[in-house]
Amino acid sequence: MDLVPVFSAALQYRHIRVADGAGFALGSVTEEDSSSKEAAIWSAPAAIETAAKKSPGLGEMEGEQHLGLAPNPTQHFITDACDSDHRLDWETDLASAMLVFSELKGGYLMPENTLTITDNRTNKTYMVPVENGTIRAVDLRQIKTGPDDFGLMTYDPAFMNTAACKSAITYIDGDKGILRYRGYPIEVLAERCTFLEVAYLLLCGELPTEKELKQWVYDITHHTMLHETTKKFMEGFRYSAHPMSMFVSTIAALSSVYPDARLVRSASDRMHQIVRLIGKVPSIAAMSYRHNVGFPYVYPDNDLSYTENFMNMLWKMVEPKYVAHPAIARALDILFILHADHEQNCSANAMRAVGSSEVDPYLAVASAASALAGPLHGGANEEVLKMLDEIGSKDNVPAYIKKVKEGHIKLMGFGHRIYKNYDPRAKIIRWSAEQVFDVTGRNPKLDIALELERIALEDDYFVKRKLYPNVDFYSGIMYQAMGFRPEMFTVLFAIPRTAGWLAQWQELMTDPEQKIARPRQIYTGYGEREFVPLDKRLPAPMPAAYPAD
Ligand SMILES: CC(C)(COP(=O)(O)OP(=O)(O)OC[C@H]1O[C@@H](n2cnc3c(N)ncnc32)[C@H](O)[C@@H]1OP(=O)(O)O)[C@@H](O)C(=O)NCCC(=O)NCCS
Repeated sequence: MDLVPVFSAALQYRHIRVADGAGFALGSVTEEDSSSKEAAIWSAPAAIETAAKKSPGLGEMEGEQHLGLAPNPTQHFITDACDSDHRLDWETDLASAMLVFSELKGGYLMPENTLTITDNRTNKTYMVPVENGTIRAVDLRQIKTGPDDFGLMTYDPAFMNTAACKSAITYIDGDKGILRYRGYPIEVLAERCTFLEVAYLLLCGELPTEKELKQWVYDITHHTMLHETTKKFMEGFRYSAHPMSMFVSTIAALSSVYPDARLVRSASDRMHQIVRLIGKVPSIAAMSYRHNVGFPYVYPDNDLSYTENFMNMLWKMVEPKYVAHPAIARALDILFILHADHEQNCSANAMRAVGSSEVDPYLAVASAASALAGPLHGGANEEVLKMLDEIGSKDNVPAYIKKVKEGHIKLMGFGHRIYKNYDPRAKIIRWSAEQVFDVTGRNPKLDIALELERIALEDDYFVKRKLYPNVDFYSGIMYQAMGFRPEMFTVLFAIPRTAGWLAQWQELMTDPEQKIARPRQIYTGYGEREFVPLDKRLPAPMPAAYPAD
C-alpha cells in the first residue's frame, strides 16, 4: 500500500479518529486544533493493536464527538486516518495507521523521548515522556486495572533508583569517581579555595568576587556568637553527653531563639538564617567539645579565619590570644571543603523531607544532623577509629578481613551507595593527612589502615562488590592526629555539611515543583477488624527485646 496518500488524506480531512487502550472510539481531532492531532499521533503501534484486538467493531462506530485537546495524550491512540465519510475498511485502516506510525517514528511527530508501557493485566498500552533519563512516577498513576484501582506506583525502599528532585548543586559520577560542586572539580576547589568561598559557591551558585567574599566572610564572622541562654542551655547537658547529641539538640534549640526563622518563604529571611547557621555551627560544635571535656567555653575571635576561630574555641586555654598552626588550619579547611555537600545522601534527604513541611531551618538542620549521626552515614569515621583500635596491629588485618568476608562485620569506611570507584575525597584526604603528619607526627593507625586498604583492594570480595575506601576511612586518622577525640568526628563533618544542607534547602524552597514530601506505602497489615475487649484478648508474641532488660 502506498502510505503517502493515506496519511495525506488524513491531513487533508484533518480528522484522525482516536481510541483509548480499551478500543473505545473517542472521536476525532478538529482542524482548528492541530496540537491535539499531534497529541493523538503521540501514540504507539502497540496501542493500536491493543485497541483493534479489544474492539474489532471500532470501524463501525457511529457518531463522532470532537475530542478537543486530549486531556492526556498518552491515553489516546490513533486507530485510523480518515474522516467518518471516507471510512476505509477496518483492516486497511489499522494497517495504514500502523505503517504511518512506523514511518513517523523518529520523525517530527513521533516524540523520541517517550516510553511505551504495556500493562499485561489489561492489555492496555500507555506512553509516558522520558525526561533527563527519568519518567515521572505520577505518570504511572493512569495505569489502572479498573476504576477502583489507585493506579500503578513504584516501590523503591531506600531510594535505590528514584530521583526526588532536580538539583544544580553537586554532581557525582560514582563509577568514574568524579565529584563537582556547581561544576568545579572537588580537587580544584580543595587546592584553590577556602571553605567559606566554597560555602558561598554552594549557596549562591557562583564563586564570590573579591568584594562579595569580603562581605560574606564579614557576615559569617559577625554571626558566630551564641545567645547567653543558648550557652546556659548547653551547660545543662550531662557531663558525659555525646558531642553529636549536644550539637543536634542545640541547633534545634536555636529555633526558640530566632522566631523570625519561620518566615521560610522570604528570600531575605532565609539568607539571614543561613548566615546565622553557618556562623554558629562551629561555636556550638566547640562548646559541645569543651562541655564534654569539662573546660570553660571560649568565645569567638573575629580576627581569625573560620577554621582558626573554630580551633581557638576548641583549644584555647590560658594564653591571651590563640594562634593556630597554619598547616593544621589549612588541612581542616580542606576537610571542610570535602565534606560541604554530597548531593542527595541520607542527611540531605532528611533536610529536604523535613524542610518541605516549611519548618524553620534550625529544626530542619537538626533533623539532617540527626541523620548524619548514624554509623552508616557520618558516624562511620568514629567507627573506623574503633575498628582500627580493635584490629590493633598490621598482623591482625588478614584475620579481620576474613571476618568481614564471612559477613560477621562490615569494614567501616569502605563502600558507598554511589561511588563504585575510589572516593575522590578519600584521595585528597590521604594527601592532606601527610601534611598534617609532618606537623603532628605519624598516626600509627595509618599503617593498619593502609594495610587494610591494600588487602581489601586486591581481594575478590571487595573487587567484585566495588568496595573502595570512602571519605571516612582516612578522615578519622587525620582528625585524631590533629588532636580530636573520636566522639567529635561526626560533629566535624556536620559543620561544613551545614552549608550543603542549606544549599539543598534553598533549592527546595525555590523549586516550584516541590511540595511537602510524602511517600506512599504498600499496606501489608490487617483489613478492618472487630474490636477485642480487654478481658477477651489473647497474649500476642512480643518483640524479642520487650520488656527491656
Ligand atoms: C555505605 C553503605 C551503607 C552503602 O550501602 P549500600 O549501597 O546499601 O550497599 P549494600 O549494603 O547493598 O552493599 C553491597 C554489598 O557489599 C557489601 N558491603 C557493603 N559495604 C561493605 C563494607 N563496608 N564491608 C563489607 N561488605 C560491605 C554488602 O554486604 C553487600 O554484599 P552482598 O551483595 O553480598 O549482600 C555500606 O557500604 C556500608 O555500610 N559501609 C560501611 C559504613 C560506611 O563507611 N559508611 C560511610 C559512607 S560515606
